[in-house]
Amino acid sequence: MTKVFVTRCVPEESLRALKTVAEVEVWPEEEMPVPREVLLERAKTADGLLTMISDQVDEELLSAANHLKVVANMAVGFDNIDVETASAKGIVVCNTPDVLTDTTADLTFILLMATARRILEAADFVKHDKWKNWAPMLLAGSDIHHKTLGIFGMGRIGAAVAKRASGFDMKVLYHNRSRNQNIEDTLGAEYVPFEELLSRSDFVVCLAPLTKETKGIFHEGAFQSMKRSAFFINASRGGLVVEEDLERALLNKEIAGAGLDVFEEEPISNKHPLLTHPNVVALPHIGSASVETRLHMVSLASQNIVDVLNGDKPKTILNP
Ligand code: DGY
Repeated sequence: MTKVFVTRCVPEESLRALKTVAEVEVWPEEEMPVPREVLLERAKTADGLLTMISDQVDEELLSAANHLKVVANMAVGFDNIDVETASAKGIVVCNTPDVLTDTTADLTFILLMATARRILEAADFVKHDKWKNWAPMLLAGSDIHHKTLGIFGMGRIGAAVAKRASGFDMKVLYHNRSRNQNIEDTLGAEYVPFEELLSRSDFVVCLAPLTKETKGIFHEGAFQSMKRSAFFINASRGGLVVEEDLERALLNKEIAGAGLDVFEEEPISNKHPLLTHPNVVALPHIGSASVETRLHMVSLASQNIVDVLNGDKPKTILNP
């Protein structure tokens, strides 16, 4: 019998099609990742794996997975998967792009706005009974409209963020491996070198994937190149940031604040020095977390496995 292992408890209905083609085992926990030793054990006999970003699908796992035909990650990011080794072994790797674009762009913009306008501080102010009077500069934040937004990583989500920014009359700059003529034509975004993105932007928004080239790209020097009044927003992967350097930049007031949905280590410890700064808005990696989108993501991942097991080409394949 064809076997599929799903590494986290997901809504039953999203696995219906998968259950018609395979014996499906679902790890029963929703919040705790499957232990590494269990994942390694199941990978040895599985034909398909439906994985999360917290599962490392590396050389050790792939070399012992002698029946494995497909790994479908329930995420657009796939830095947890060694695609090169999988490809060499003929294992199909899939992700879940498109279905989460708008939801993640919404959250990125919410994070930007919440950080600039000090929304969490303001809400706590009311809850903790500190609101005694209206005052001229009480909890005054920074404007968003007519400011300059610098997007690092102008992919699908970057473009959707740029679209939202145009409604706020923002000037959009971007830096990418390559220029995107369509974005320039439709949204008037301007391609600039990385250094210029840092020095001209009021909001530097990180949306690039974690790769060998982007790891740690936001380090001390990058934060020092930003305006002192600028905000750093990260909604892609924590590994692009040297967190110690970000913390120092905040401490030295080299930047105005940070909105972070992702961290070098997740979950971040509540003792982490970054969380002591009132001008840091920290979220638990919820970019794509709307009920509708998460259901779409798991259904797409599951359909990708069905397609491979049926001998068809899956919709969103990553192998070159
Ligand atoms: C992704 O899809 O890569 C997100 O970071 C997880 O929701």
